[in-house]
Amino acid sequence: MTMDRYVITGKQSLEGSVRVSGAKNSSLPLLAATLLADGTSVLMDIPDLLDITHMVEVLATLGCRVQRDEEALVVDASTLNGAEVDETLMRKMRASNLILGPILARTGRVRIARPGGCAIGSRPMDQHIKGLMELGVKVKERHGYIEAWYDRLQGGDIYFDVPSVGATENIMMAAVLADGYTVIHNAAREPEIVDLQNLLNKMGAKIRGGGTDVIRIEGVRKLTAAEHRVIPDRIEAGTHMVAAVMTEGDVRVDNVIPEHLEGVIAKLRQAGAEITLEDDAVRVRQRGRIKPVDLKTMAYPGFPTDMQPQFMAMLAMAGGTSVITETIFENRYQHVDELRRMGANITVDGRTAVVRGVETLEGAFVEATDLRAGAALFLAALAAEEATVLEQVGHIDRGYENLEEKYRGLGARLRRVLPNSSELARIDT
Ligand code: EPZ
Repeated sequence: MTMDRYVITGKQSLEGSVRVSGAKNSSLPLLAATLLADGTSVLMDIPDLLDITHMVEVLATLGCRVQRDEEALVVDASTLNGAEVDETLMRKMRASNLILGPILARTGRVRIARPGGCAIGSRPMDQHIKGLMELGVKVKERHGYIEAWYDRLQGGDIYFDVPSVGATENIMMAAVLADGYTVIHNAAREPEIVDLQNLLNKMGAKIRGGGTDVIRIEGVRKLTAAEHRVIPDRIEAGTHMVAAVMTEGDVRVDNVIPEHLEGVIAKLRQAGAEITLEDDAVRVRQRGRIKPVDLKTMAYPGFPTDMQPQFMAMLAMAGGTSVITETIFENRYQHVDELRRMGANITVDGRTAVVRGVETLEGAFVEATDLRAGAALFLAALAAEEATVLEQVGHIDRGYENLEEKYRGLGARLRRVLPNSSELARIDT
């Protein structure tokens, strides 16, 4: 991952409009789903992100031919000849585990390195394995690898202990080619699940209930390749909306599905933002001090955990105290220490963070520890006094396409400098 860093000048009100790219967290399962068909699928509006590059690498390792045609990725899975993802690839991106379901359904066996944890949590796979075993799959874990195979893939009744997004996606992609019916109870309800259901049904699958907590799948014999446009990235959209509020700006965020942002919109309005909805855009204006709000992250349609760091940066400047509870990941407060370096007053006790708002944040040398923590610090730097140097921007590259271009277009003053650049010395003056 690149060691580049951003130098960001703060106190710049953002004005204008920005277009949201396709959703990273939908593109990844959609790419995995193309493995199910012996043909060439076309996925449109797939963002050019590091995580997508890594998923393309995984598909190529499995024998698929993938090429980018502007905003589309063309995946020929007819030459699939592998069924294993080694730890090098898995360590690059844990979402590689989404090939589990499709490879099993297509070839009858799969072997993947157990994805390591990441900065925000241990990221277990017990629900993925529980679901597969309900479909008649045999699973063995040894030497850090998960091996799975079956004599017969049969439909089953699956009850998830937690509404896991990845486990729901993996089981959907396995069950579409199973014999008979599968019902998934306590399924994840994220918009990305609905997007995956829509692609799979275009490929000939018979799935109902995506977006609710009960998904019904009637197994079919074969799937065929299809074309599909990925939904817009609701977390990127939410990040831009918070940027507008933190810089007391006036920003129109284009290419959104407002229903996907209900939790974020409600909380921003509670914080005092003026938000107007259009068909596929939202306009965010902020005048005056941000109001404190309490947040509790929940599975969709609750407030999204992927927006918690960005909201913490915003609430660090609110006129009062906010209480944040992170119920999804056990270690998603790595951004707190870095925000403190910028003058934030935050205390963490287990899953709860108490954020006492300060008048303004101060520019400082800070470091991105993971994708959304990096996004939070990027936003804090835009709002802070003077300049901020943000290190390890490779984390941000994983989830935000053309970030500098988009923010320069809104009036931000920032530049990306190489790690050994002497340019940094000028910041101190
Ligand atoms: C997806 O991760 C997203 N990633 C994450 O976005 C997002 O934060 C998360 O869903 C929750 O919304 C992608 O879609 C690629 P989970 P996923 O399985 O599927 C526990 C970002 O910033 N769990 O829904 O890995 C788990 O420990 C990333 O874009 C089990 O206990 O999330 C966690 O506490 C970060 N057993 C909770 O469920 C399992 O088998 C939610 O995890 C699986 C998960």
